[in-house]
Amino acid sequence: MTAVVKRFDDAGQYEREIRQLLPGYDVLHAMPAAVLGAVLGEDSRVLVVGCGPAHEAVTLARALPGSLLDALDPSPAMVAAARETVRAARMMERIRVVQADLGGFVLEEHYDAAVVMLVGHMIPDDGAREEFLRQLARALRPGGVAILAELEDTGAAHGVLVEAHVRCALEAGLPRERAETLRGRLMGGFHLLTRERLDVLLSRAGLKVKAELFRAFGMVGRVLEREV
Ligand SMILES: C[S@@+](CC[C@H](N)C(=O)[O-])C[C@H]1O[C@@H](n2cnc3c(N)ncnc32)[C@H](O)[C@@H]1O
Repeated sequence: MTAVVKRFDDAGQYEREIRQLLPGYDVLHAMPAAVLGAVLGEDSRVLVVGCGPAHEAVTLARALPGSLLDALDPSPAMVAAARETVRAARMMERIRVVQADLGGFVLEEHYDAAVVMLVGHMIPDDGAREEFLRQLARALRPGGVAILAELEDTGAAHGVLVEAHVRCALEAGLPRERAETLRGRLMGGFHLLTRERLDVLLSRAGLKVKAELFRAFGMVGRVLEREV
């Protein structure tokens, strides 16, 4: 059975806290948009998996003026927040928000690119993570690009990086009690993979690592390509 590490039924709390929980959140969204802006044509199709309140979808749509995006999330609260973000940005014609997880989404086409921000570490490595990555690969056209950003098990440095991350979150205004919850999740509450393990799962899914895009404490962003 899939272990639920975090429920996403309070989009308001997520919006209030995410920039404290993850200092640099907006920059982490800007980087995938810049990469896709550099490699995709303007009329491209992009899938956003686990869009939450859809901030990355709006950032991507602005960076790719002629593109059409599908943004998925299984949480009804997040879908409602995402639709509000898209409406406020006047992007309803270009961003379709769908309530679905990746496995439950009916593919009508293959995408030029997919963006998966802060989702992977929610999914256990009991077969579900590998299947998620296979579904991601299936959603892309051969040669399509995926940007995957998730928290990683950083090995010997992990304790120090977690401590530094928690200090930054406190500095950003996160209450102490919430910072302790964050520490617990970073220390093993989330489903963190080592780099070596993620490489194995990516390779089985037919996704090649083309570049490391960023590394912020344990949060690692990679540019992937679906094998042709
Ligand atoms: C930490 S939030 C990240 C939201 C957004 N990407 C961001 O950067 O703010 C993780 C989101 O992934 C969604 N999620 C979890 N499992 C998923 C799956 N299998 N497919 C699609 N979305 C999923 C959750 O509902 C949640 O909204």
